[in-house]
Amino acid sequence: MKYVTVKSYEELSKMAADIVADVVAAKPDCVIGLATGSSPVGLYNCLADYCKSGKLDFSKVKSVNLDEYEGLPNDNEQSYRYFMNENLFSKINIDINNTHFPDGCAEDLVAEGKKYDELIESLGGTDVQVLGIGVDGHIGFNEPDDVFTLETHPVVLDESTIEANARFFESIDDVPRHAITMGIGAIMAAKKIVLVANGANKKEIMEKAFFGPIDPKVQASILQVHPDVTVIYSEV
Ligand code: GLP
Repeated sequence: MKYVTVKSYEELSKMAADIVADVVAAKPDCVIGLATGSSPVGLYNCLADYCKSGKLDFSKVKSVNLDEYEGLPNDNEQSYRYFMNENLFSKINIDINNTHFPDGCAEDLVAEGKKYDELIESLGGTDVQVLGIGVDGHIGFNEPDDVFTLETHPVVLDESTIEANARFFESIDDVPRHAITMGIGAIMAAKKIVLVANGANKKEIMEKAFFGPIDPKVQASILQVHPDVTVIYSEV
């Protein structure tokens, strides 16, 4: 594991974007795993700039997002599909048909999880996975648990996650209580991983996740045993 501390969000974003950009440049039809949340927004802006300036071409790139809230249709402004359209897909030349999410509106979320894992496999697996981290150590929406769940699966969100994500909603009561998330299996199967985190409120969980024991109560700690992971943290 490579753990890098940087001095600003700009530096963090550029460093992470360059890792992703190198993969896209080397393999134009690569599969990128994408995350939502505020942490990767700067990274996505950098990728958009590279695309705009002609430095990067996303026309053959495929993407698989980590997670989606349950019951929010794609056109709902709080859905992760909407977030990605706004923050990345509309700014780069990716074919929208090549961008994938687990369907949080599927009737049978367990079956949907199986379908999503099969899709990722059929695409040849993820070449580079972008991750953020929740204040409770979650990656995707893999919440603290007694086990690491490998498959894409439905989850009940932790109270701390609901509180943290309430800032994106009009009121905390509007935050969905359930979601579907890629499991630890597909995340760990990514050939390369870059995790970005910023802010003093993430300092404690970063210590626990990357300098503490591997423990499903801190799901991100499993990344310590991935062969190619870069963790970038900026306190500001
Ligand atoms: C959400 C997402 C995670 C993300 C986390 C952190 O819960 N499901 O994938 O890492 O938020 O968000 P932020 O970067 O806004 O702190």
